[in-house]
Amino acid sequence: MKAGGRPSGTGSGPGDHDATDVDGAAVAIFGGRGGGALAAFTLGRLAALGGARCVGFLNDVEVAGSRLAGHPVLGPFAAWRDLPASTRFAAPLHKAKEMAHRAEIILRLGVPHDRWATLIDPQAVLAGDVIHGVDLFASPGASIMCGARLGDHVAVRGGGHVAHDCTIEDFVMVGVNAVVCGYCTVREGAHIAPGAVVREGVTVGRYSVVGLGAVVVGEVPDGAIVGGNPARQLGSTFDVAPKPMMAR
Ligand SMILES: CC(C)(COP(=O)(O)OP(=O)(O)OC[C@H]1O[C@@H](n2cnc3c(N)ncnc32)[C@H](O)[C@@H]1OP(=O)(O)O)[C@@H](O)C(=O)NCCC(=O)NCCS
Repeated sequence: MKAGGRPSGTGSGPGDHDATDVDGAAVAIFGGRGGGALAAFTLGRLAALGGARCVGFLNDVEVAGSRLAGHPVLGPFAAWRDLPASTRFAAPLHKAKEMAHRAEIILRLGVPHDRWATLIDPQAVLAGDVIHGVDLFASPGASIMCGARLGDHVAVRGGGHVAHDCTIEDFVMVGVNAVVCGYCTVREGAHIAPGAVVREGVTVGRYSVVGLGAVVVGEVPDGAIVGGNPARQLGSTFDVAPKPMMAR
């Protein structure tokens, strides 16, 4: 995990913490459907409070000028360089089993570290001493508790809970209503699917997938796909060929 960002939030409850590090800024979103639309939704809520606003999507499939989730497509991914220097970026591109490929795409963009945004929904809760990197996206109802440290490009979806003293590395996604108990380490690019629970102190390996509703009570090896209660290995993400982005 890279060095974390500034401590954020006051920890005093929904809606009353520092919602984003880019208040008032224009934010362009890489993607469009799925996570992109969720990020646009949170940006709409932040804009209503005078915070950051969505200026549109960067998308390699949809033509420039078309609309997604109520916002214009500004151009392909590479067009980020043409946007004003004040524009910030979000890359909510998480995808189970394909995160190693997605991480490469995000890093290859070459967006300078200080131009990534942080999107914390007004109804997400971050403890005051949480340390996080760039491009954190916390959806409505996400909670990230005391002493947690998060890397870059992390997503915590609605109701997802990162308990106290966890280490969450770059490119991790914690899904809807998933729970990562205290003192866990979730390594780079791991995907914790909706409704999964990870027992305290466990390490979840790099680019692994913890399946829907899984109960993880022991270590998850790098690249493992695990599911069930107690979770057992079902496969490996290292055997999965990535699909073209946004092809569906
Ligand atoms: C775990 C997961 C990756 C497995 O998907 P998959 O690799 O396509 O595997 P399959 O669906 O072909 O299932 C393979 C086997 O595992 C079982 N299985 C699949 N998902 C399971 C789960 N969550 N728990 C327990 N067993 C599961 C299947 O029943 C099947 O068993 P079988 O071989 O005895 O028939 C998938 O179920 C999952 O959880 N994906 C994450 C989805 C997600 O995060 N969605 C939200 C995005 S925002």
